[in-house]
Amino acid sequence: MNEEQSLYSYFRPFLKRFLLAMGFMAMVAVFTGFFAVIIQPVIDEMVIQGGGQPAGRSQLIRNLIMRVLGIREKQLVLVLPQLLFVAFLGQAIFSFLSLYSMKTLGLKVVRNIRDKLYRSLIYQSVDFLSKARTGDLVSRISNDIEKIKMAVAETLAVYIRETLTLACLLAVIFYQDWGMATLSLVLIPVAAVPLLYFGRKVKKRGAQSQETIGDLGNFMSESAMGNKIVKAYNMEEFEIQKFRQLNQKHFRINAHIALAYSLAAPIMDVIGGLVAAGLFTVGMHRISQGTLSPGQFTSFLTALFLMYAPIKRLTLAHNDYQQGRAGWERVKQIILAANPIRDRAAAAEIKSIRGEVEFQNVHFAYQPRVPVLKSISFRAQPNEMVALVGASGSGKTTIMNLLLRFYEPESGEVLIDGRDIRSITMKSLREQIGLVTQDVFLFNDTILNNIAYGRKRYNMDDVQRAAAVARADGFIAELPLGYDTVVGERGIFLSNGQRQRISIARAVLKQPQILIFDEATSSLDSESEKLIQEAMAEVMKCRTTFVIAHRLSTIIEADRILVIENGEIKESGDHRELLKKRGLYYSLYNLQFPEMNIIM
Ligand SMILES: Nc1ncnc2c1ncn2[C@@H]1O[C@H](COP(=O)(O)OP(=O)(O)OP(=O)(O)O)[C@@H](O)[C@H]1O
Ligand SMILES: [Mg+2]
Repeated sequence: MNEEQSLYSYFRPFLKRFLLAMGFMAMVAVFTGFFAVIIQPVIDEMVIQGGGQPAGRSQLIRNLIMRVLGIREKQLVLVLPQLLFVAFLGQAIFSFLSLYSMKTLGLKVVRNIRDKLYRSLIYQSVDFLSKARTGDLVSRISNDIEKIKMAVAETLAVYIRETLTLACLLAVIFYQDWGMATLSLVLIPVAAVPLLYFGRKVKKRGAQSQETIGDLGNFMSESAMGNKIVKAYNMEEFEIQKFRQLNQKHFRINAHIALAYSLAAPIMDVIGGLVAAGLFTVGMHRISQGTLSPGQFTSFLTALFLMYAPIKRLTLAHNDYQQGRAGWERVKQIILAANPIRDRAAAAEIKSIRGEVEFQNVHFAYQPRVPVLKSISFRAQPNEMVALVGASGSGKTTIMNLLLRFYEPESGEVLIDGRDIRSITMKSLREQIGLVTQDVFLFNDTILNNIAYGRKRYNMDDVQRAAAVARADGFIAELPLGYDTVVGERGIFLSNGQRQRISIARAVLKQPQILIFDEATSSLDSESEKLIQEAMAEVMKCRTTFVIAHRLSTIIEADRILVIENGEIKESGDHRELLKKRGLYYSLYNLQFPEMNIIM
C-alpha cells in the first residue's frame, strides 16, 4: 500500500526512459553553457580585430579552441561563428529529444494512474460508490488527472532541465568572474521568496478549484437528469441562480490563482532588472581598469541572463507542481481507499451450489445507531420461492443487499448451503446469483449486449429464449434494429416496463442457482405480469428465488412469505397459513383485495 502512496512509484516502470530523458536534458544544459562560454572568444576576437587587446585570462579559451580544432589564429574569425551555430543546433536537437521523451513518459504515467483510478473505483464498496457524487468522480478522472499530467509531463521536465542548465551556467559565471558571481548569487534567494509564497497559495486554491469544478459537474448532471421536474415546476430560473452562485465561487477561487500566477513573473522581472543595473556598474568599472575583458564580461552577462529564464520557468513550474500535488492528493484518496468488503485470504471458490439460503440472527445498519435490520433469521430451501413483503422502507432490498454481500451484517451470518458467504470469494458468490434490481439499470449499449451482460459465451438462441421468458421478445421484434437497438443512457429510449423485461431476461440468461427479483414487474400491466409469471414458473422450478413485491397477487404461489416490518420478520408462512393468522399479512391483503374480505 505504501507503494502507491507516492506518485513516483508510477515512474518506476519507466526508469530507463526517464534516465535517457535526463541524459538529453543534461545535453541541453551543456550546450547552453557552451553557448555562454563561446561568446567570450567571439567578443574578444572582435576587440582584437578592432585593434584592441583583451586582458587577463581571456586568451585561455581562444587557445584551447585552436589546439583542439588544430586551426591557426587567422581561421578563428571563420570558425567562432560556426561554433556559435553548433551551440544553438545542439541545444535545439537535445531540446526536442528531451521534451518529447519526457512528455510521452508523463503521458504514460498519467495513463497508468487513470487506469488505476478506474480500477480502484469499480472495486469500491457499494456504500462508497452510492455516497460518491458523479460530478466529483468525473472531476477527479478528468481535471485532477490533467493537473497531474501537467506536473509530471511538463513540470518535472522543466525542473530537471532547468536545474541542470542553471548548474552549467553557474559554472560559467564562476569561471568568468567569481567575485561578481558571488554578488549576484546573494540576490537569487531573494527571488525565491515570492516563489515559495505564491506556490503555497496556488496549492491551497488549486484544491478548492477542483472541488468547485466537481460541484459544477454534479449540479449540471443533476439538472440534466432531473430536467422534467425542473420544467414541470418552472424552476429554471431558480436552478440558474443556484448554478450562478456555484460558478461565481469557482471564479473567485480562480481569480486568486490568476493573481498569484500574474504577480510571480513580474516580481521576478523587477528583481532581475535590479541585478542587471548593479552588474553593469561593476562590470564597466572593471573593464576600464583592465582586470576584465569585454568578452569575459559579455560571457558572464550572457550566462547570467540565460539563468534568468530557467529561474522564471522554475517559479512557474513550482505553481504547476503544487496544483499537480493537489490533484494527486484527491486522486490518491480514491486509489488508497480500501474497500472494507473484500475476499478473505482463505476464501473458497464455489463452483455449484444447491441453493439453500439462510440468515442467522442478522443485524444491520447503514449508519451507526440507525438499525435497519434486527435479528433477521430465516431459511430458504433449495429451489424454493420465497417472497418478501412489507411496507416501503421496511428493509426488503436491504436483506437482498446482504445476500449479495454488497454490505456486511453487523452481527449474525448469511449462509449459502450452510457456508458463511464471507468464506466464499465474492466473484464465485455473485456468479451464483441473478439480480433484477428495483431501479433497473441498463447500459448505453445494444439490447443484445444488455441482456448478455456478464456472459462470456452465449448463443443467440439462449438470448432469445431468455427474452421470451421475460416477455421482451415481442417488443424487441418490433424495433427496426431488433436486438441491435441501442437503448440510450440508463435505457432512456425504452419504457419502464420494457427496461424491466430486459433486466429480467438478463437475469434469466445467466441461469444462476439463486434469483432475486426486487419489484421486477412493478411497472408492468397485470396481463404482462401474469404472462411473465407463467413463463418464470418453469425457470424458478430448479432455482431458489426471492421475489419482492408490493402487489401481493404476484406472490400468492410462493412457498414461503416473509412479512417484514421495521427491519424485523413479523410473520412467515405460505399464503393460506398467513391469511389464517389474521395478522399483518391478512390486513395487507385485505387492503389490496377488499372484495376478497367476505370469502376469507
Ligand atoms: N444506502 C443507504 N444508506 C442509508 N440508509 C439506507 C440506504 N438504503 C436504504 N436505507 C434505509 O434503510 C431502510 C430500508 O430500506 P430498503 O431499501 O431495504 O427498504 P425496502 O423495504 O426495500 O423499501 P421499498 O419497498 O420502498 O423498496 C430505509 O429506512 C432506508 O431509508
Ligand atoms: Mg426496496
